[in-house]
Amino acid sequence: MSDPSPPSNVFKAIIVAAGKGLRVGGDTPKQFRQWRGKLVLQHSIDALIDAGCSRIVLVAPAGMHEEALLAAGKNSRITAVDGGATRQQSVAAGLEALTANSSDYVLIHDAARPDIPDAVITRLLAALETHIGAIPVLPVVDSLAVCSEDNVMTGKADRESLKRVQTPQAFRFADILRAHRSWKGNPDAGDDAQVLSASGGSVVFVEGDERLKKITFAEDFGEPMTLPQFRVGQG
Ligand code: CTP
Ligand code: MG
Repeated sequence: MSDPSPPSNVFKAIIVAAGKGLRVGGDTPKQFRQWRGKLVLQHSIDALIDAGCSRIVLVAPAGMHEEALLAAGKNSRITAVDGGATRQQSVAAGLEALTANSSDYVLIHDAARPDIPDAVITRLLAALETHIGAIPVLPVVDSLAVCSEDNVMTGKADRESLKRVQTPQAFRFADILRAHRSWKGNPDAGDDAQVLSASGGSVVFVEGDERLKKITFAEDFGEPMTLPQFRVGQG
């Protein structure tokens, strides 16, 4: 594990924007659509730059990194790289493309979460002064039921021990790079906190924010519902 370093507000970022947005549907992946006056992915780029981010690697759909860079607007702090077939492979491509020192702070963020409150970035960077990984989480407020494949309740789960996990997720660069390189599991497994945790690294929780909601369905763009509300088994 890398040594803790002095407090720093300097950080780098990876924005994963290589997904197809199948649940939203349509011809244009959700991160390249308009939302509140600009492209979805432009919101996170602007928030990260405003918060002092020194370098962003934008991970784009395969073969589209030049177009993605143009769509994001020219900025010398941003470079782009092609992503992979899964989110995790896209993050790995971003990490390999990021030029960083081992103790540098790196934030890994979903382009599909356009609204990043500055306070969350502040909490994450503060947590990295003493931890190698930090993620924003929210409590689960509903009660939780365990169900069978045919939608019959088989038990209940303890909501106090479960959290809703968001991005950006913050790490020491050397530790998250090493964890991704050594990952032997399913290439579609969860998020980067899980990858670090599985490699033995500890990840601390900071308070998340409802505004970090991920655009997932067409109605998140304010469109009428086109999908059934009850979507069992979709990832
Ligand atoms: N992502 C990525 N590369 C992939 C898959 C996902 O960079 N191969 C990114 C998406 O662009 C998104 C983030 O990971 O910013 C979170 O993924 P998700 O919300 O699942 O987006 P999609 O995979 O695009 O959507 P869907 O699952 O509905 O197809
Ligand atoms: Mg997906």
